[in-house]
Amino acid sequence: MKFFIDTANLDQIKEAQDLGILDGVTTNPSLMAKEGITGEANVTAHYKAICDIVDDNVSAEVIATTYDEIIAEGKALAALNPKIVVKVPMIKDGIKAIKYFTDNGIKTNCTLIFSAGQALLAAKAGATYVSPFLGRLDDISTDGLALIEDIRLIFDNYGYPTQILAASIRGPLHIVACAKLGADVITAPLSAITALLKHPLTDSGLATFLADHAKASGK
Ligand code: G3P
Repeated sequence: MKFFIDTANLDQIKEAQDLGILDGVTTNPSLMAKEGITGEANVTAHYKAICDIVDDNVSAEVIATTYDEIIAEGKALAALNPKIVVKVPMIKDGIKAIKYFTDNGIKTNCTLIFSAGQALLAAKAGATYVSPFLGRLDDISTDGLALIEDIRLIFDNYGYPTQILAASIRGPLHIVACAKLGADVITAPLSAITALLKHPLTDSGLATFLADHAKASGK
C-alpha cells in the first residue's frame, strides 16, 4: 500500500519524506489556503517546492469546473513537473476531462468520491486514482469503509487499473482498516501516519530493555 501525506505544509511533507515511507502528496484548495498559499504564481511555486521534496505523485487540484477550463488548467499543472497528478472533481465535465487527460498521458486523481457509482464512472474514464472521502462519510453517520470495500470489489470484478486512494483519513485505525480492505493508497495527515508508530507496550518494553542493559553494564 502506498502512503501519501494529505497536506500542503512543507515541513510536514519533509518530515514524512525523511521517515522514508512516503510515496506522494495530496493537496486541495482548502489545504493550500490553510498554508496561506494564494495567487497563481505562489500556488505554482508551492507545487514545485513540493515536487522537489518527494519522489513522485503530487496531486494538484484544478479550480476550474468547466471542461475547457479544466483541460487548460490541468495541462498547465501537469507541465510543472512529471510528478504532478491532476486532481479533478467528480462532476460531469470532470469525467470528460479525465478521459481527455487519460488519452493524452496525463495522470489524474478523481476527487470528492462519495459513492461506488462515482468511482465506477471515474474508472471508466481511466482515472489513475479515485479518492473516496471516508472520514467525511463517517462524519454524517455513513460507513466510509464500506465504500472502500465496495469500490475494491467492483474494480477487481473488471480488472480496472484505477487505484483506490482512500482519503479523508481521520486516524491510524482508518489506515489499518484501509490496508485490510485492499486500498491501493491512503492519504492521511502526518499525525495519523506517525500514530501508527505508537504502542504503550513498545514504550514500556524498550524502557525495560534499556534499564536491564544499563544494570548489566554496571551503569
Ligand atoms: O484531500 C482530500 C481529503 O483527504 C480531505 O480530508 O479531512 O478535509 O475530510 P478532510
